[in-house]
Amino acid sequence: MTKTANRQISKSANRRISESANQQIGAVGHQPSGLSEGQIAELIAAAAAVRERAYAPYSRFLVGAALRAADGTIFAGCNVENASYGLTICAERNAVVQAIAAGARDFTAVAVVSENGVTPCGACRQVLVEFGPEMTVIVVDTRGRRRIYTLAELLLDAFGPKHLPGD
Ligand code: THU
Repeated sequence: MTKTANRQISKSANRRISESANQQIGAVGHQPSGLSEGQIAELIAAAAAVRERAYAPYSRFLVGAALRAADGTIFAGCNVENASYGLTICAERNAVVQAIAAGARDFTAVAVVSENGVTPCGACRQVLVEFGPEMTVIVVDTRGRRRIYTLAELLLDAFGPKHLPGD
């Protein structure tokens, strides 16, 4: 099942993503990301690569996410589905978990690659805010078209650690 799902993305699709890393379309660049073009391309490439390992036999919607930590280290995660559908873990949250387990806690950007360039779901936005309210969110489709947001734009007036008493 995994193989069938993973066959959906080809090496050439990934190549297209990297090659068109300079393409920007749509509502791009609301805010300066503070990242160099090379850093953006590197993050997108990591997200596209991990997307190949997505376990998505039920939805067949493969997602890869890559987080850039404050020190420049990149942590990647893909979506992992389950026969008990509700247990599915999104790519973004998987990337956060990988990073935290490795000792990173502050993130400046996340790239998310999917067939149609979706933005992170609401649950993932909330989890991302915990570790980088200022982060840049780069969403990319498998044709390499991208849009850039800030997380604050995607989750306005977010609830976060600062709202808890004693913090
Ligand atoms: N999914 C993600 O991994 N990230 C998103 O931003 C949107 C949705 C996954 C969850 C599920 O495996 C599949 O995409 C369809 O919802």
